[in-house]
Amino acid sequence: MSADVVDSRRRRFLTGAVTVVGGVGGLCTAWPFASAWQPSERARAIGAPIEIDISKLEPGAMLTEAWQGKPVWILSRTSEALDSVSALDGAVRDPDSSEEQQPDYARNRFRSRRPDILVLVGLCTHLGCSPQHVRVEQASYFGLADWRGGFFCPCHGSLFDYAGRVFKGVPAPTNLVVPPHQYLSDTVLLIGEDSREVA
Ligand code: FES
Repeated sequence: MSADVVDSRRRRFLTGAVTVVGGVGGLCTAWPFASAWQPSERARAIGAPIEIDISKLEPGAMLTEAWQGKPVWILSRTSEALDSVSALDGAVRDPDSSEEQQPDYARNRFRSRRPDILVLVGLCTHLGCSPQHVRVEQASYFGLADWRGGFFCPCHGSLFDYAGRVFKGVPAPTNLVVPPHQYLSDTVLLIGEDSREVA
């Protein structure tokens, strides 16, 4: 990719960032946690697995939870978001998840156990900022063909698709991390453990 193409893409990113990120409160917003039921705050701080109720997670919505002191995103992907992932294989750096950024069960097209639910550690793989969720309806500000939203890191302009796959030509070197997780039922997600026996 030429320097001109990279510079042009970077300008578009920054224009989109000002429009989208500015609209949600500035570049340095703290990451909010959704309410959680268990375990205790102390257990969260030391990294115990956490159970998340996803029964009220609407299509297109995202929860942010704390695990091992890091933000973890639980995103409900729409069919439009899933379609955009399928269209971006040629634009992302590691389309097949070859790098060790996810458990084996998430080494698939959508980097997830369930296509409709994406679970990611919400920290940029460049220098650890927390990227912003860019919704389908906000993605057009970035002016990128086939991109229907995902995640944008305002610190240095890294962009990720709706599977957490990093675009070519941005500072972040690898895809976002998928943490160990499993479903205890259709509506309860366990983060931090993936081999618990389910009755
Ligand atoms: S920390 Fe995200 S682009 Fe640098």
